[in-house]
Amino acid sequence: MILSDCFEVNEAGHLTVGGCDTVELARAYGTPLYVMDENAVRRNCGLYRDALRECTGGRGMALYASKAFCCKEVCRIAAEEGMGLDVVSGGEIATARAAGFPAERVFFHGNNKTRAEIDLALEYGVGRFVADNLEELGRLQRAAQEKGTVARVLLRVKPGVEAHTHAFIKTGQIDSKFGFALSTGEAREAAERALSLPNVELMGLHCHIGSQIFEIAPFLLAAERLLGLRKEIYRETGRSLPEMNLGGGYGIRYVEGDDPIPYGKELHVVAETVARRCAEDGMETPFLYLEPGRSIVGDAGLTLYEVGSVKTIPGVRSYVAVDGGMTDNPRYALYQAAYTAVVANKAAGPADFCATLAGKCCESGDLLQESAWIQKPEEGDLLAVLCTGAYNYSMASNYNRIPRPAVVMVRDGRARVIVRRETYEDLLRCDC
Ligand code: LLP
Repeated sequence: MILSDCFEVNEAGHLTVGGCDTVELARAYGTPLYVMDENAVRRNCGLYRDALRECTGGRGMALYASKAFCCKEVCRIAAEEGMGLDVVSGGEIATARAAGFPAERVFFHGNNKTRAEIDLALEYGVGRFVADNLEELGRLQRAAQEKGTVARVLLRVKPGVEAHTHAFIKTGQIDSKFGFALSTGEAREAAERALSLPNVELMGLHCHIGSQIFEIAPFLLAAERLLGLRKEIYRETGRSLPEMNLGGGYGIRYVEGDDPIPYGKELHVVAETVARRCAEDGMETPFLYLEPGRSIVGDAGLTLYEVGSVKTIPGVRSYVAVDGGMTDNPRYALYQAAYTAVVANKAAGPADFCATLAGKCCESGDLLQESAWIQKPEEGDLLAVLCTGAYNYSMASNYNRIPRPAVVMVRDGRARVIVRRETYEDLLRCDC
C-alpha cells in the first residue's frame, strides 16, 4: 500500500489502482490519464454519510463539493451514496442536472452568481442558495418573485477563523472575498435583510474556513461563532434558524508525513459541540450540513504520464519531462502542493533518484514536483502522481492547446472511461 489503500504494487512490480495494473491502463487508454477508484469514492462518501447520520441522529447531511471533480458520473455516484451537492456555477448546475442529481439536494454557492445562473438554478429547483452579499439577496428576491416562487437561503458568513493552510485556499478570515463578516455586524444585518424579503426564506448560516486543514480546532471555533450569531438573530428577531452548514476543508494525505483528522471522530466532536452549545443556549440543534470535496475524491485518484526525457544538469538537478503537466495539474505551480510520485512500471524498486518532475508546457514554472524521490526513470517509463482525484481534472486548462486527458474509473480490477480524452477537434470547436 502506498499512501492510501487504493494504491498497491503487484507481482510484476507495477503500481495498481483499484485492482488494475497501471501499465495496462496506460496501454489501453493512453497517457496522460486520470484514474479514479470508484470504491474509494464510495467509501469516502459513506464515511461522512454514516458518521453524520450517527452523530446527529439523522439530522445531518454531507454535500459533495463538486468543484473538487465535477463530471456526470461522479455526480451520479454522489447521488447514489446519499450525498447532497455543492455547485458554484451554471456549468456545475448543468452537469448535476444532466446527471439527474435530485435538485432539492443541490446547494448553489458562489460569491457572484449571475442573474442567468440564478434563473437556471430556480428552474432546476435547487434546494438552497448560499447567499454571499446583499446585492445577491436582492437578485434572488427579484428572480424568485418573477417566477412566483421562494428561494431558500443560507447566508455565507466569514467567522474570522484563521485556518493554517495555503493563503490562496484560506477563506474564513475577514479579509476574504467570500461572504458576510461576522465581526463587523454585516452578517447580522444581512440576516435581518433576508428575513424581510417576501420571496426569500432564511434557513440558516454557512461558513467554509479553508481547505486541506489538519486540525479540528478551527472547525469548532467556526461552529461556536456561527451558533453565537444564530443566538443573536434569535434574540433580535425571534427566529431560530433551522439549519447550519460548516463547509468542507478536511485535509487528505498527499505525502507520507501528512496526518489527516479521522472523519468519524472529528464529526462526533463537531456535532457534540453544536448540540451542547444549543442546549446551553436553550435553542434547538440545527440540521447540520458538511461539504467535503477533496476528502471525497482526492485520495481516490492518480495521474499516469509517459516519461519523455531525463535531463541531468551536473551539480544542479535532474529534470524528468512527462507528457502532461500544469495543464492537467496546476496545483504545484499555484500552491507548491506536495505530491507523491512513483515510476509505475518500476514501483517495487528503490526510490533513490531525486528529480524535478516537469511538464511539457512552454513555461519554466510548469512543474509537478521538485526534489521528488522516485525510481530511476528512463524514456518510455510510466510516471504516476498519486492522490490527484481532487482539483486536478476540475482545474485543468488547454494552455498551449493541450487537450485534457481522459478519466478512467476503475473498480475491482475493471476499468471504464467516464470522461473521454479531448481531441484537437474539441479544441477547435469554439473557434470561428
Ligand atoms: N464548500 C465551499 C463553500 C468551498 O468553497 C469549498 C472549497 C468546499 C466546500 C470544499 O472544500 P474541500 O473539502 O475540498 O477542502 N483549488 C484548491 C482548493 C480550493 C477550495 C475551494 N473551496 C486546491 O487545489 O487546493
